[in-house]
Amino acid sequence: MIPFNKASITDLEVKYVTDALLNGKSSGDGSYTAKVYHQFKERFDIDNMLLTTSGTTALEMASMLADIKPGDEVIVPSFTFSSTANSFMLRGAKPVFCDIRRDTMNIDERLIEGLITPKTKAIYTVDYAGIPCDADVINEVARKYNIPVIEDAAQAVGSTYKGRTCGTLAPFGCYSFHETKNYVMGEGGAIILNDPAFIERAEIIREKGTNRRQVLKGMVDKYTWHDVGSSFLPSDILAALLCAQLERFDEIMNKRMFVWNTFQTEFKELEDKELLVRQYVPDYAVHNAHMYNIILPTDEIRTNLVARLKENDIFAYICYVPLHSSPLGHKLGYEPESCPVTEDYGERVLRMPLYADMTKEEVYKVIELVRDILTK
Ligand SMILES: Cc1ncc(COP(=O)(O)O)c(C=O)c1O
Repeated sequence: MIPFNKASITDLEVKYVTDALLNGKSSGDGSYTAKVYHQFKERFDIDNMLLTTSGTTALEMASMLADIKPGDEVIVPSFTFSSTANSFMLRGAKPVFCDIRRDTMNIDERLIEGLITPKTKAIYTVDYAGIPCDADVINEVARKYNIPVIEDAAQAVGSTYKGRTCGTLAPFGCYSFHETKNYVMGEGGAIILNDPAFIERAEIIREKGTNRRQVLKGMVDKYTWHDVGSSFLPSDILAALLCAQLERFDEIMNKRMFVWNTFQTEFKELEDKELLVRQYVPDYAVHNAHMYNIILPTDEIRTNLVARLKENDIFAYICYVPLHSSPLGHKLGYEPESCPVTEDYGERVLRMPLYADMTKEEVYKVIELVRDILTK
């Protein structure tokens, strides 16, 4: 069986998790959490990062910090996971769906300015498949209208845009370490506060509205309630799992990159015959091999390919039903034609199986079958 995803777990993960379990500190912000921050500082020069219980709650924290309120409008691509929109809809704001680019499948930065109204409170971008959006263009529009950008970099840990790390391209960056991501902690995520003005409030919101973190830092001797918050910090046992994954950062990245590059090389012939379109990476980006997508000519061809692969125990994955054409999207008044490129791609994109421990034989089994099915 070839699943679409499988986390890479070794003795190191077992060792660190066991240690965290036995060292008597299973709540949040313990020694493994500190090690994770150090790892991100060393590798990416990221300073102000807070681990969260998920990518979803990192986005929820960003929405609270951006002070999103009922009646606000928020610009967001429709081609994303529900969590991106849920995070600000939970604060009462309305999504304004923006279409995507045909090449990167990211928010079409050229359309953003036309969607801005006096009610626009924020722009959420998504680095889909680990490929960054054109952040410089988006940030320029945001600056012109004085609107914050929240970068949903859930899929983009380790990717870069013009040499800058994804997750640091906007005032707020959000990561996911969910089991399906490159580096996992089961369920987990992080918020990166690239504007230091938000650090203190973020620490309070994440600790049930209290300044408990200031006690841990030795700044005050008892903590009290300061703000409305929640419990957004994950157990140190999960941080231990992530710590082990990050020690294996290059190993995991290199193995995923081998799979990604093999698909990209071997599918060229099918692209030349116009049987599919391969994943595109713009010159400004270095990606993290998070996903390998192919775009098929029609929905029918995609459905048939998924079914035929499944008969051979290979699980390819139809990634997103676009939010604007989901049942909730309809209730919000969106029509399929509201975001035509998203609608079209929502019917034709297919995610290939990709994981670090995928063997060469497994990769070629997938390639041969896709080739056979599409050419016969
Ligand atoms: C773009 C995007 N945003 C947010 C999330 C939510 O992350 P999590 O599953 O860690 O809550 C995901 C997860 O799949 C995602 O792909």
